[in-house]
Amino acid sequence: MNSAIPVSDVLIVGSGAAGLMFAAHISKYHNVSLITKDAATESNTRYAQGGIAAVLSIDDSYSKHIRDTLKAADGYGNPEAVNTLVKEAPARIFDLICMGVDFDRLTDNALQVTREGGHSDKRVIHVGDMTGQAIESALWNSVRKENLIVYDHETVTNLLVSNNVCYGVESIDRSGNVRKHYAKAVFLATGGAGQMFSKTTNPEIANGDGIVMAECAGAVVKNLEFIQFHPTVLALKNAPCFLITEAARGEGAKLINLQGYRFMQDYHTSGELAARDVVSRAIVSEMEKTSAEYVYLDMTHKSKDFIENRFPTVTSTLLKYDLHPEKDRIPVAPAAHYFCGGVHTDIDGRTTVDGLYAGGEVACTGVHGANRLASNSLLESVVFAYRAAVNADRRIRYLPNDWFRKLDHLTQETPRTWVMNNQKVDIIRAMKKELQRVNWKYCGIIRTDKGLRKGLQLIGHISKQFHQINGFSNGDNDAIALRNLIKLSELVYRAAIARRVNAGTHYNCDCVLNHKKD
Ligand code: FAD
Ligand code: SIN
Repeated sequence: MNSAIPVSDVLIVGSGAAGLMFAAHISKYHNVSLITKDAATESNTRYAQGGIAAVLSIDDSYSKHIRDTLKAADGYGNPEAVNTLVKEAPARIFDLICMGVDFDRLTDNALQVTREGGHSDKRVIHVGDMTGQAIESALWNSVRKENLIVYDHETVTNLLVSNNVCYGVESIDRSGNVRKHYAKAVFLATGGAGQMFSKTTNPEIANGDGIVMAECAGAVVKNLEFIQFHPTVLALKNAPCFLITEAARGEGAKLINLQGYRFMQDYHTSGELAARDVVSRAIVSEMEKTSAEYVYLDMTHKSKDFIENRFPTVTSTLLKYDLHPEKDRIPVAPAAHYFCGGVHTDIDGRTTVDGLYAGGEVACTGVHGANRLASNSLLESVVFAYRAAVNADRRIRYLPNDWFRKLDHLTQETPRTWVMNNQKVDIIRAMKKELQRVNWKYCGIIRTDKGLRKGLQLIGHISKQFHQINGFSNGDNDAIALRNLIKLSELVYRAAIARRVNAGTHYNCDCVLNHKKD
């Protein structure tokens, strides 16, 4: 069934920090449709713990935040984008506070700032260890509801593009109907792709949908080989990959190997607060040396009160596994965390397809280059989503209301249905698990030429198997996710194989280092 939906001025895909910041601004002036594939509150944003970075103290400076961000990016950062990010950060933080985000404060009412890896100063503000949830709910409250229609549990499957102009999306609603949404501007805010890997901090929604859809629609995608692995994720058998925030190390937590040795100083002068790629590789090396599947994060020098107040979510989760961080060392290991590359945009969120904007983790603004500085991604989401909304506002005012009709006329093809019969769901899930295992093994923290070629070949087999399954019908999100993960994996392997120099998160034993990090 193919039912047309009335046109809206603007269409947003995704309800994380980027989608909602865009919505909060643009809904003041225009009617908005927001499509999101799970519950409206589900996103990576919701799980963000550590905080959001910004220069807010007189001891800190823009130039230091710019320098730290570019240093983490390891030669691949775009200085114009970084400059914009850092200098517009205080204004967006002020917006968030006005929207009701109650960042933690000191007794004199000053914002409480902490340090995270790669930052030369304390500049991460937070709401306990639930910063993402606080930002998400304040943004939701700030969207003009009278101008907004939310389509939740509806999955966007492809972008409607004609002559390099995007005029809407095709989606599958919760009942399995394929439908088209038309708009004068589309904002892609579908987040990351941690589900490419068997170990990830990301929830089920993070399948790289936006990158794949944009690439299929002809948009330029970039830096796909740069995938960040978070060093400290709970490593217990039968426990989920729960993140233990880097802010714990910012507050003094130490990394200890199974022989009780504090090892980070052997790898970098910044110790536990070195950039994430350095810490993740160091942990892998220590795990190999000690034949273990984890190292320990040790906060036992901190009081129970301090840990409970500063990290309530971490503490309550650890308690479920009978771990008491004030007296127990926590077993941790790295897991896939953040997709540094994505859909190429300029600093106003414009992709290379006219009318298609992208923001947040799906986008590649150039801010992160080869590696993202901690707590810069919530910031990137709000800074560039805001800029994209300002730009889209102008576009919407300029175009006539029924402009899309002519374009849609040109592309009256049968809607593509990528989805499988529900009865195949077990096969699809098994294939996804296999893809995640292959990617973890061959495209993870430490890569080799041989491994990358092998991984690409195995993904090719999975792809073939996927396309041989008969019985396509509507309504299965698992199949859509797998289709996108297969395509994205192929793109990532090709990018990783082509990158002959190591930088940031991309580390191939058969390549040379980009340059020595100090
Ligand atoms: P998301 O918040 O992931 O939102 C994506 C949205 O798109 C979701 O609503 C999803 O359902 C929807 N969607 C996806 N595909 C489709 C589709 N096909 N159709 C319709 N809807 C779709 N960053 C920081 O700066 N500081 C932190 O402290 C921090 N902590 C983190 C902790 C964890 C555990 C994780 C996983 C990430 C953390 N990050 C942190 C990273 C940060 O949370 C994300 O990069 C950021 O929130 C991304 O926001 P977003 O709006 O781009 O995407
Ligand atoms: C964390 O809290 O460690 C995550 C911070 C981030 O990903 O920026």
